[in-house]
Amino acid sequence: MFRTLFKRLGIEHEVDIQPPEEKFFSGIVGYSDLKKLFMRSIISKEPSHILLTGPPASSKTIFLLQMMKGLDNSYFTDGIGTSGIGMVDYLFEHPSTKYLLIDEIDKMKKNDQVALLNIMETGILSSTKVRKTRQLEMSLWIFATSNSLDDLSKPLKSRFLIFYLPEYKYEEFVEISTKLLKEKYKIEVRTASKVADKVWNELNSKDIRDVLKVGKMAKHEETDLDIDWLIHTYKKYAMREGHETEVI
Ligand SMILES: Nc1ncnc2c1ncn2[C@@H]1O[C@H](COP(=O)(O)OP(=O)(O)O)[C@@H](O)[C@H]1O
Ligand SMILES: [Mg+2]
Repeated sequence: MFRTLFKRLGIEHEVDIQPPEEKFFSGIVGYSDLKKLFMRSIISKEPSHILLTGPPASSKTIFLLQMMKGLDNSYFTDGIGTSGIGMVDYLFEHPSTKYLLIDEIDKMKKNDQVALLNIMETGILSSTKVRKTRQLEMSLWIFATSNSLDDLSKPLKSRFLIFYLPEYKYEEFVEISTKLLKEKYKIEVRTASKVADKVWNELNSKDIRDVLKVGKMAKHEETDLDIDWLIHTYKKYAMREGHETEVI
């Protein structure tokens, strides 16, 4: 009712009708149902754990990054542990951590995986180093990603609610690409959808990162011919031999 009224008054755009999860995950295009589900998990009383899996560039990592940005008491770590201090040590030092965000969990060290399994099972973080055992009771929500599930142990997989993000269809790919190119590089829709189309059809890539790489190079006043030239040149010097999707 109010919407109609505001529309009549011409102030519809000033009304904030965005659901909270859309605001929270505003950097992600689409997946409205999944955003809602994540939000439910975030605000649930009991810890719940979600694992996102699927092909590269299906937005798994941005889900975690958006949570890192929006949640106090969160800790983001990549499975390889490049962030320096080990995950278990970090948690002992920051016992108020509530949301643990693990990118590429399949690459995580085996002993970290065991620690994780324990905490998911018992709510107790424990570690033994040189005959010294430390234990800490924690209420921890775990959100993780993994390109594949092959390297994850069965018990660990069974602790998660697992969601598979399928590859984008052409229309989705173009929609996401155009929104991102507009937001990031102020490229207008017609040019942006041309870049997306060429990346999909000529570079045979379904990776949005490739669109962003080409888009970055395009000039604002880019003509179609220049886009054709950019794509043609990338293609000419692209990696071959089974690396068709890594053309640029
Ligand atoms: N649905 C989407 N909304 C916004 N950006 C997206 C979406 N899907 C992919 N991207 C973009 O594609 C790139 C790869 O996303 P990322 O989350 O790192 O993929 P993954 O972790 O699944 O390999 C990022 O630059 C991201 O901005
Ligand atoms: Mg990723």
